[in-house]
Amino acid sequence: MAALVIGLGAASLLLLTYTYLSRLSSILKSTPEAVLKVSPKRWTKEELRQAYQRLEKNLITTKTYADRIPPKLDRRYIITGGSGLVGGYIVLQLLERGQSPESIRIVEFRPLNRADMVSGPASTVDFVKADISSAESTNNAFEKSWPSSVAHLPLTVFHTAAVIVPSDRSKLVYGLCESVNVRGTRNVLDAARKAGADVLISTSSGGVSIRPIELWISPLELLLSPKNKLPEIKNYLQIMDEKDFFEPPRKHEEHFANYAVSKARAERTVCGANSPELRTGSIRPANGVYGQPGDNTLGGSLAMSDCPTWCAHIIQPFVHGINVAIAHLDYEAVLAANPKAPQAGRPFMITDPNPPISYIDMYLAIETLATTPFKLIRLPPLPMWFLSYIVEWYSLLPVKYPFLRRILPELKGDIKHMKPGLFSVTTHMVATNENASRSVDEGGLGFRGVVTTLEGMVQEIVEWNVEHKGEKKAKKFQTSISFAEEIAKAAEAAGVMEKMGK
Ligand SMILES: *[C@@H]1O[C@H](CO)[C@@H](O)[C@H](O)[C@H]1NC(C)=O
Repeated sequence: MAALVIGLGAASLLLLTYTYLSRLSSILKSTPEAVLKVSPKRWTKEELRQAYQRLEKNLITTKTYADRIPPKLDRRYIITGGSGLVGGYIVLQLLERGQSPESIRIVEFRPLNRADMVSGPASTVDFVKADISSAESTNNAFEKSWPSSVAHLPLTVFHTAAVIVPSDRSKLVYGLCESVNVRGTRNVLDAARKAGADVLISTSSGGVSIRPIELWISPLELLLSPKNKLPEIKNYLQIMDEKDFFEPPRKHEEHFANYAVSKARAERTVCGANSPELRTGSIRPANGVYGQPGDNTLGGSLAMSDCPTWCAHIIQPFVHGINVAIAHLDYEAVLAANPKAPQAGRPFMITDPNPPISYIDMYLAIETLATTPFKLIRLPPLPMWFLSYIVEWYSLLPVKYPFLRRILPELKGDIKHMKPGLFSVTTHMVATNENASRSVDEGGLGFRGVVTTLEGMVQEIVEWNVEHKGEKKAKKFQTSISFAEEIAKAAEAAGVMEKMGK
């Protein structure tokens, strides 16, 4: 009798656990009605092929959208991160509108490697290597003298340099983000002031507004809900906007990852520094900037012949580097024209001029158009989620217990990014251009994007295919994430050497 009761008890517990997990799993595979209302239409092979044919003949270049670049100003320019995804487009747009190459200075850590910048006028722009996490290095780069033809002009600084560390959440490993993104931003602000800049616009991140999603749903609630009306996971669908900026700063744990913590601090530092002498502001690109083979969004997927994913159904608002760069120039025009512009001292969210797309749209574009091999491997989200906690725990072990450093093998490849923060940054999101697209008189930037996500992504594949003509395999492009790893390794090595020196 007792055995029967225990047996029945165990069986029903098992059944309940199974039901709980399978319901949780189906929530994670779902797309909320509300987001489908905003983004009801999926891309088709047909429209992708048509766009491909159109763009193959007429690529979008600074010339094709020259009428949308704000007019030339009599100013000098420093662009930190000026050969990166956003900074590079800023430089190209400045040149297109007639700023002379000698009035522009790129301050960069990486060598100039963008295909659209290594020849033509962009290649003649002054390039100063600097590490913004060092005040001395930053000051030197800013204080270098200018050609006499431009030395007297007012100075604008576009601060786009940052490290992207996608998924670390732990305060134990916050150091790198803090040193480049927060201290680096302070160094840039100080150097800009010393150099006499009167406008400074920094690139923030839409990630600042993202909250961690919470997987936990009480078993009672989940098991008692009707099967066709399951409850929602907290923060499963999020709106990316600027609201949080006008509220008290969030705690570390209220951000999805360390990267967002550092970008939020940097943004508040920049916006807080606004004054009539140095007008400041920030642009928040929505989730996933793309537009160069090294981008993490499309470029990262193009480079994978086997592409594992659990987020094919996820809706996200991407933004092309071209659109982000234009927003920076729009903002500059406002702040340069009016020392008392009410637009100063705040962030503006920017996304492509179309509803958010689904990852499956992007994957379909790659499958349909890319000449390099690509195979989607669909993974169930729930087990991946559990795995992400294990990956996080494992990678923190050598940080907590340094003696384990020599014993535990390091995680290699993409799996090391599979930490819980990644699930928050790749959940369903809708971003809004609402404030940026208001007219200048109404307190906006008069922003209007020039590239839709479909055009922008298809064009990137056109360029990818040209780059890979006759090749069977994808070339290695350095993404900003792998770049951040390199810096972290270098910093670690420097730290070790410093200790050895003492
Ligand atoms: C637009 O800006 C105002 C402040 O000017 C802010 O209160 C509001 O939250 C912003 N709207 C969005 C959607 O971010």
